[in-house]
Amino acid sequence: MHRDEHGSRREARREGREAERLMSEAHQKNAYAAGEPILEVRGLAKHFPLTQGVVLKRQVGAVKAVDGVDFDLRGGETLGIVGESGCGKSTVAKMLVHLEEPTGGTIRYKGEDIAKLSGRALKAVRRNIQMVFQDPYTSLNPRMTVGDIIGEPYDIHPEVAPKGDRRKRVQELLDVVGLNPEYINRYPHQFSGGQRQRIGIARGLALRPEIIVADEPVSALDVSVQAQVINLMERLQQEFDLSYVFIAHDLSIVRHISDRVAVMYLGRVVETGTDEQIYEHPTHPYTQALLSAVPVPDPSRREHRERIILTGDVPSPANPPSGCHFRTRCFKAQEKCAVEDPVLAVPEWFKGRGVPAEHPSACHFAEEKRIVPTE
Ligand SMILES: Nc1ncnc2c1ncn2[C@@H]1O[C@H](COP(=O)(O)OP(=O)(O)O)[C@@H](O)[C@H]1O
Ligand code: SF4
Ligand SMILES: [Mg+2]
Repeated sequence: MHRDEHGSRREARREGREAERLMSEAHQKNAYAAGEPILEVRGLAKHFPLTQGVVLKRQVGAVKAVDGVDFDLRGGETLGIVGESGCGKSTVAKMLVHLEEPTGGTIRYKGEDIAKLSGRALKAVRRNIQMVFQDPYTSLNPRMTVGDIIGEPYDIHPEVAPKGDRRKRVQELLDVVGLNPEYINRYPHQFSGGQRQRIGIARGLALRPEIIVADEPVSALDVSVQAQVINLMERLQQEFDLSYVFIAHDLSIVRHISDRVAVMYLGRVVETGTDEQIYEHPTHPYTQALLSAVPVPDPSRREHRERIILTGDVPSPANPPSGCHFRTRCFKAQEKCAVEDPVLAVPEWFKGRGVPAEHPSACHFAEEKRIVPTE
């Protein structure tokens, strides 16, 4: 009896501390939900060494997969990152979640440079930034049960879910992403593509992160399933107060979910703005070309859409064009473009005008061009 009393008092104290911790966590999160930058990325770079020789490897160059990327992610928002395959989107994503080390630049999380963190502080940041991968067919280990896959992050962060609680937590997560909690002992091959991506999302949520970096989470799915997964992600964002970095190669997918968009080309951000600025008032020729390829459901609008054909592929990041990286495929390129690197900034002409086209664009000849008419 006496011992029980002690035990329950201890338990009550523990619960009190737990409630306090959750409240202070929620409080911190709310401060960022107000739209302050939760991530600030400046000059981010990843140059992979290019080597020659088998035994004596010599560095003969570098693949500039990411070459000076700037963006902010604000609390509670979705930032879409768009660009063709090979532009460096996945490499950015991997640096945000610490799967790749940057070779340059900084990533600040709530004002702190994460490269300067170590030990518990670093572990806490890693817990708060989770990734959802592109391909639900290859990103889940086929020999693990769904329960083990979703619960695996608890091995590294046992403080989030004590061993005895894990099964319950995993079943809750299955329920949250719209899967039957009784499926906990099944294997990935017993699920459809859309269901597997739900499993990937449940795993991403397991540690209750603040930020989810989703690298083309619906690109491998059928069009009919894409919308379901995006709707799910939107619902979870509200429920769990999440901020998203949502990567896609197609502007039409990102439009539904993004508050702001950053367009990437060959390792750099070339244009960034609110979704209205990017879709209705694009000023960079690359964004304009991407928009002209987006499907337009309304036939009368489709008829008046401007067509800009993007010829050729993205050049190799081992040997990018001088000056503006986009100049070899740009319909507006001039001599200046080969010698001067355009910076990502609000073009002079638009500055202070208060027009929707007043947003950063890395082009010497930025001008507004509406690709898809609104009426
Ligand atoms: N580990 C690596 N070593 C060398 N080059 C790489 C490596 N990872 C990616 N790259 C190269 O970096 C460029 C950008 O790749 P990636 O970030 O995957 O682009 P995206 O996700 O936009 O398709 C590509 O040219 C790719 O071949
Ligand atoms: S700087 Fe020149 S090449 Fe680059 S996007 Fe602008 S017009 Fe095209
Ligand atoms: Mg990729």
